Amino acid sequence: MERTFLMVKPDGVQRGLIGRIVSRFEDKGFKLVSGKLVQVSDEQAKHHYAEHEGKSFFGELVDFITSGPVFAMVWEGDDVIALSRIVIGKTKVTEALPGTIRGDFAAHTPFNLIHGSDSPESAEREIANFFEPGELLGYQKTIDSWI
Ligand code: PPS
Repeated sequence: MERTFLMVKPDGVQRGLIGRIVSRFEDKGFKLVSGKLVQVSDEQAKHHYAEHEGKSFFGELVDFITSGPVFAMVWEGDDVIALSRIVIGKTKVTEALPGTIRGDFAAHTPFNLIHGSDSPESAEREIANFFEPGELLGYQKTIDSWI
């Protein structure tokens, strides 16, 4: 069973979209393993986006993600990393299709509402950057045997 790190960005929190975004992943059948509101520190933001350090938008990215609380989550499921990125939609809002979170709710590219890990390695690093191991809850859902 795979795990991924998903984060409703400050624009999603400010717009009151946490509940509707969480619902998309519950509807898909994934299991929420942890979730909390976090005021991201400068250091935590730079670690999270380390692969983009040196790019022209790096400063903007760090400023944006630290501009207000985010809702950090860990989700579990078969192929949850790839499938959750399909649920999220394309990074550029002009390419995000209707039916995806960004396609339905985002209208300006840097303000694309949600981040999702892009690989198992990123997921492991990003989860460790936001959560202690004891905060990740392993539990059974009765529906597990049906999907
Ligand atoms: S790249 O260069 O193709 O790897 O970058 P990309 O995957 O398109 O984007 C990486 C993350 O940077 C965000 N982004 C920005 N944020 C703020 N300002 C600007 N101008 C900007 N351009 C890209 C983009 O939303 C991605 O964030 P995450 O959280 O990973 O989805």
